[in-house]
Amino acid sequence: MRYLTVALTKGRLAQKTLDMFEKIGITCEEIRDKNSRKLIFVNEELKLKFFLAKGPDVPTYVEYGAADIGVTGKDTIMEEGRKLYEVMDLGFGACRMCVCGPESAREVLRNNQLIRVATKYPNIAKDYFYNKKHQTVEIIKLNGSIELAPIVGLSEVIVDIVETGSTLKENGLKVLEEICPLSARMIVNQVSMKMEDERIRKLIQDLREEGMK
Ligand code: PRP
Repeated sequence: MRYLTVALTKGRLAQKTLDMFEKIGITCEEIRDKNSRKLIFVNEELKLKFFLAKGPDVPTYVEYGAADIGVTGKDTIMEEGRKLYEVMDLGFGACRMCVCGPESAREVLRNNQLIRVATKYPNIAKDYFYNKKHQTVEIIKLNGSIELAPIVGLSEVIVDIVETGSTLKENGLKVLEEICPLSARMIVNQVSMKMEDERIRKLIQDLREEGMK
C-alpha cells in the first residue's frame, strides 16, 4: 500500500483538522509537539503522511499531486483557483467573506463609483465586483491587517474575512455587503481521487459519520 499524503494548513486549522482525524482513529502524536520545527510526519501503521504548509500553498500541493488530500479554508480555495476536487465541508473555521468599510462607504458602493478596494484576496474581490456586481473598481493587494486601509485612506472599502466581527468593531468599520460563507474544506487531487478511490471515500465517509454524531 502506498502512502497517502495529507497537506494541512499550519496553525489553528491544522489543530482542528487533527482533532477531527483523531476522532476517527487517525492519530499522529509527533505533529502535536508545538516546539518541533519538523514539517512532515508519518503514521506507518495507516500508511499516511501529514505535512504542514502555508494556507495558500495547500491547493498548489494538491493540484500537483505532492499531496493527495488537503485541508484549507474555502477562501484560499476560491482565491487560488487550482484544478482539484473539493469533496467536503468540514464545518469548522466558519466565517464570512465580506465587503467592509465605514458607514459612509455604503453610498459610494451603491452609486457604482470607481472606488479602491484593499484585500488579501484580489481574485475573489475581482470576481465579486466585476462579474457579480458589474462594478469597475481598483483592487489593491495587501498582506494582512486589511482593516487599516480605509482608516488611513488607502481605500474606500476592503474585502476580508469576518469571523466574530470584533476587528471591524474595534476599528469603527462595518460589514457593508456579504460575498459568501466560508469554512474549512477537504480537497483532493484529481488523479488520486481515481487511483485511491477506496481509501479516500472511506476517509470521507468516516468523517461524515463522525460529523453526524
Ligand atoms: C483575520 C481577518 C480579519 C480578522 C477577522 O485576520 O483578516 O482581520 O481575522 O476576525 P474577527 O471578525 O473575529 O475580528 P488575521 O487575524 O488572520 O490576520 P491578518 O489581519 O494579518 O490577515
